[in-house]
Amino acid sequence: MRENGTILIADNDVKTRDLVSAFLTYQGYDIAAAEGNTPFFETIENNNVDIIIADLTYLRLIDPDFKERCALINPLLVLIGYGEIDGAEHVKSDSDTIFTLPKPLNLDELESLVMRAREYQSMKMYDRTVGDSAQNKILSASMIGTSPPMRALFEMITKVAASNATVLIQGESGTGKELAARAIHQLSNRNAKNFVPVNCAAIPDDLLESELFGHVKGSFTGAYANRIGRFEMADKGSLFLDEIGDMKANLQVKLLRVLQNREFEPVGASKSQKVDVRIIAATNKNLEELVVSRDFREDLYYRLSVIPITIPPLRERREDIPVLIHTFLVRFNADKRNTVKGFSREVLSILCNYEWPGNVRELENLVERLVILKGSGLIVPDDLPEKYLSGKPSRAILVQIPTLPADNLLPEGGICLNSAVEEFENNLIAQALSRSGGNKKEAAILLNLKRTTLIEKLKKKNMSFNEDQ
Ligand SMILES: Nc1ncnc2c1ncn2[C@@H]1O[C@H](COP(=O)(O)OP(=O)(O)OP(=O)(O)O)[C@@H](O)[C@H]1O
Ligand SMILES: [Mg+2]
Repeated sequence: MRENGTILIADNDVKTRDLVSAFLTYQGYDIAAAEGNTPFFETIENNNVDIIIADLTYLRLIDPDFKERCALINPLLVLIGYGEIDGAEHVKSDSDTIFTLPKPLNLDELESLVMRAREYQSMKMYDRTVGDSAQNKILSASMIGTSPPMRALFEMITKVAASNATVLIQGESGTGKELAARAIHQLSNRNAKNFVPVNCAAIPDDLLESELFGHVKGSFTGAYANRIGRFEMADKGSLFLDEIGDMKANLQVKLLRVLQNREFEPVGASKSQKVDVRIIAATNKNLEELVVSRDFREDLYYRLSVIPITIPPLRERREDIPVLIHTFLVRFNADKRNTVKGFSREVLSILCNYEWPGNVRELENLVERLVILKGSGLIVPDDLPEKYLSGKPSRAILVQIPTLPADNLLPEGGICLNSAVEEFENNLIAQALSRSGGNKKEAAILLNLKRTTLIEKLKKKNMSFNEDQ
């Protein structure tokens, strides 16, 4: 099976079947055609089909109960049809795994729909891989990712949540350290109490001690009343010490003491106070290097990193990018009441190859920006800010015709040369038209043909495309 998955095309109209099959073959999908004597649902099972693209009238004819049968199996259904596809809206409301597209087909729309169906499928797959336990539901609701490092991370989070051990989360900026810390708290038996975050880099040094441990009235200028600190607020809950690498040496000593004795002294107090807190610390600095350069206490480092967790940068788990994009798209469309349909294949490919120095946060911000600026329709490369395009392959590479494998082209039993050549030609034409957004002039340039020759061919082949382009 190709990595893009297998699509079954069920349509008794040969032209639509050939066109869709040629077009999707070039998009990297395996095509299974429902024809011959093999019953429809058997074809699906035998071919491990991921998506079914079916003409509604034809499907009803084959099996009036197709809806129920499809609901029982995995593949997603894309219904196509003339006019009556309105009726499919009814079908659609019964099951969210059914997408619809009116005929005559617009190949761009088909491409975007198939992509959405694939994204939807990976989301469902994701739900299945993380399972339905209450723990996994909490995790999957906030942290998205199906890549092996993310699965390992989820497993780790679930395990450490059950203990009281101190956790040190390391990772580049925007990788999801705070998200992971919150998930650990949510999954722990401390979740009925507070999760208290403290950003050690954002609070001025002279205030951080009182912020963490509280103070008694009159202990310093401005201490007009007793004030409890974050440690006390987090009693029986979790304290999240963010940007721990920025904590100054004098406070590092005090923190070490709390970690050793589970007690602290508010600023200006004469007595220490007991506390039951689970500490989760995070930093995007390399703490081991800070230990070597003596900017971070070694003893504190060991106390904190009882359980070290490292979240890998996004560029090391690129397979998570499409599912993250999909999640953010759905979220921001809903937030902003926009109707952006999706990202073109080219945009997805650009984003999957980008380095993401700002990791998931950068991706989240980009999707938000694109949803706001675009409002509706499909996001295409021109919508992307310049910096994402600098690594984009040139047009010459984009239009490169796939080379045929030199050997084994001729099947054992021979081939019908005319129809093989014709199929190859149809494929290239369909691809050129898709690239050019249906514009015949541009498609003709891509094929090194005159526009009139292309139009003649299209007419001869009965391929229907927008007349005015
Ligand atoms: N796996 C993920 N799934 C969904 N959203 C994510 C994921 N990872 C990060 N995010 C989102 O990206 C943004 C950054 O995440 P977070 O604040 O947890 O990162 P961080 O590692 O703490 O970053 P920094 O080092 O800059 O503080 C948040 O809006 C968060 O919701
Ligand atoms: Mg953070």
